[in-house]
Amino acid sequence: MKIKLSAKLALTGLALSLAAFPATRGFSHGDTAPQAVDTEGLDPLGEEWLTENPYRIPEGEEADEKKTEQHEAAVRVGTVGYSQNCARCHGLEGVSGGMAPDLRYLDADAYGDEWYLDRIRNGVTQNGGVKMPPFEDILNQEAAWAIRTYLETRPQD
Ligand code: HEC
Repeated sequence: MKIKLSAKLALTGLALSLAAFPATRGFSHGDTAPQAVDTEGLDPLGEEWLTENPYRIPEGEEADEKKTEQHEAAVRVGTVGYSQNCARCHGLEGVSGGMAPDLRYLDADAYGDEWYLDRIRNGVTQNGGVKMPPFEDILNQEAAWAIRTYLETRPQD
């Protein structure tokens, strides 16, 4: 009886911890392969990579309805895309645990975009070792910019 009870408690505990960390937070699949991101809700941006984040609404700027809608869709898509593909190295919800740079601090401007795009498309290798894999063939640019938009909306403290 005693054993049964503690087994039951253990199961309850397991169920609770699973519920506390749903898969979308990236916690429970820290070692999954990189995967394509469902970009439903985002208008196609075309084949050619843009040089600046098309979903950004610069601070203090008024956005029209369409832009606001695309921005919100981008944050939604980027939240999932980030947790599926980036969180295992760059940290849950954009907060780095020290394994890889904290991406919330990348400037939300054209220079930051160039840096971001280079990293996400080509990855980073050093001394023949892959520090970050390239995502060029995994993410389309809608997904890449959506992840960037999500990171820009994460508070920095
Ligand atoms: C396997 C671990 C790993 C994964 C997965 C990963 N990265 Fe990285 N990333 C790194 C490391 C390590 C660096 C630092 C490389 C260096 O030393 O310059 C980095 C650097 C970067 C940089 C440059 C940051 C800076 O401040 O210089 C960006 C931008 C970036 N990653 C974006 C992403 C995005 C977006 C994703 C998901 C689509 C992602 N990374 C997935 C490991 C990873």
